Amino acid sequence: MGVNLDDVRGDLSAVLFTESQIEARIAELAAEIDRDYAGRLPLLVGILNGAVMVMADLSRALTIHCEMDWMAISSYGSGVASSGVVRILKDMNTSIVGRDVLIVEDIVDTGLTLSYLIDNLKSRNPASIEVCAGFRKPEALRSHVDVKYLGFEIPGDFVVGYGLDYAGRYRNLRGLGILAPAVYS
Ligand code: PRP
Repeated sequence: MGVNLDDVRGDLSAVLFTESQIEARIAELAAEIDRDYAGRLPLLVGILNGAVMVMADLSRALTIHCEMDWMAISSYGSGVASSGVVRILKDMNTSIVGRDVLIVEDIVDTGLTLSYLIDNLKSRNPASIEVCAGFRKPEALRSHVDVKYLGFEIPGDFVVGYGLDYAGRYRNLRGLGILAPAVYS
């Protein structure tokens, strides 16, 4: 049944959100999206790999129809800090001309990935572009990226769980926690 927060408690310096807290917040965001997109067919574009959990939970919490597509973008190396390098590793399969695009992200850290992505997608002539992100770090405020549907503001610490990894692990953790520095130092 996945990795529970208690299973990796020793690797975490704090638990930020439990599975049920995240679930409740995602349900609220889905209700907003239901209202805002009533009568339309949004295209949810998930940014691999981290957004898989938000996408799975958010899309199933919606009561309106939606379509889904995926992009893979490289912004981090395998370590804990943003590298500043953004490139498209996998593009969408769908044309977004005239579509209501909702980018689905797990986390906005520096905001570099999203600023790049929004500029890139705007040039493809969608009807609209908005962003839904599970979490946002304080640093992101400097990038002025508008996240219309935000789960939680979090501190700047290195966090894992709910799609977010450290060196590929902890993505399947049911909740979000701060990784203890001893694990990565
Ligand atoms: C993470 C996250 C966002 C991005 C945010 O992806 O999923 O896409 O970093 O960081 P930024 O705001 O500083 O640009 P990552 O490159 O770690 O890939 P992953 O989703 O496969 O873990």
